Amino acid sequence: MNLRKTILATSVAISALATASFAHAEPTAEVLHWWTSGGEAKAVAALKEDFEAHGGKWVDSPVAGGGGDAAMTVLRSRVLSGDAPAAVQLKGPAIQDWAEQGALADLNDVAEKEGWDKVLPPAIQAVMKYEGDYVAVPVNIHRVDWIWANPELLAKVGATAVPTTWDEFNTLADKLKAAGITPVAHGGQPWQDATIFETVVLGVGGPEFFQKALVDLDEDALKSDTMKAVFDQMRKIRGYVDPDFSGRDWNLATAMIMNGDAAMQIMGDWAKGEFLAAGKVPGKDFLCAPTPSEHGYLFNTDSFAMFKVSGDDKIEGQKLLAELIVGEKFQETFNLLKGSIPARLGVPMDKFDECAVKSEADLKAAQDVGGFLPSMAHGMALRGHLSGAIVDVVTAHFNSDMSSDEAVERLVEAIELAKD
Ligand code: GAL
Repeated sequence: MNLRKTILATSVAISALATASFAHAEPTAEVLHWWTSGGEAKAVAALKEDFEAHGGKWVDSPVAGGGGDAAMTVLRSRVLSGDAPAAVQLKGPAIQDWAEQGALADLNDVAEKEGWDKVLPPAIQAVMKYEGDYVAVPVNIHRVDWIWANPELLAKVGATAVPTTWDEFNTLADKLKAAGITPVAHGGQPWQDATIFETVVLGVGGPEFFQKALVDLDEDALKSDTMKAVFDQMRKIRGYVDPDFSGRDWNLATAMIMNGDAAMQIMGDWAKGEFLAAGKVPGKDFLCAPTPSEHGYLFNTDSFAMFKVSGDDKIEGQKLLAELIVGEKFQETFNLLKGSIPARLGVPMDKFDECAVKSEADLKAAQDVGGFLPSMAHGMALRGHLSGAIVDVVTAHFNSDMSSDEAVERLVEAIELAKD
């Protein structure tokens, strides 16, 4: 064989090899997420297992930190350095933000093949699509406005159920405090302060007020006497937490309920994932009940957005992951562990516990009365700079002796500045 022929033969062989490796590209996905607590880790492990069982290679990139602030910082630096992870836990308007910047890959071919338009509720589709294209996939519906309670501690002051009005809540908390029991388990981190705050906005102001104040950012609502009453209630709650609350992780606050160190925690139903991971039984070892409100429901849908990456293995990985996530079986398995309910329509609820069943029923009831509202504290209602402005004021108030009047003034100012 002359040299020319040898070179040609070699290059044909190489390209055959390349084609073969293309055909066998191992679907690979680096997954950036913040699910590191006991319950969260079990849930994300179910996703990993499902992906691997379907031939995928999972590259785990966890960034610890409840609520995801730290994960979002890592994401920004990864994208800036041209090294975006393939799949990223991302939510609400942040999906639109990244899509606007041209960072997200579209998943329309998987969506069409799998009929997502038929199996996802329209409200959730709207969050997952950018200009009509699917750029993210939902894993769940978490409810934020919950109270998790230790029934034995409640019984010590004669209570058999979780309070259904904020006045009852305060009366019970005063009794617990007098009995030497910490009424509220809380972790003093801005997103946790904001989680309590938004449930109080919902309860004290009602769903319509919540919409005006925390979704529409209506100035009259923000500076209203109702908002002052919200901060008054926040001040009360500040008096119900233990002296060591500052900086505590949310799952450690949940552990306080399990261990009998505190009576109630206001937290989304990822807290239920912690109870379940510890083998606790709802209705027996712990109680779940919505925070007081008139048929409100604050929803928080976790989702994964697929960033633009190159390499067939990665693109195949994104498609496989997206397909599995929306699949019926995964939506059941994952949500049983995570504490949430499926985002996909029609998933049987027979294996779910009483808290999840209540969540689903309340969701429907809330939708009927305009009470189904996006969580501000968990990035579903507003773009980051706007929710950040609110959260800063809420935290500054919670951690000082700022009056409700001043908090409201600061809130209005902060929103004005952030809007510019
Ligand atoms: C939320 C997220 C939940 C849970 C929680 C605590 O924002 O939606 O899935 O992980 O943070 O980390």
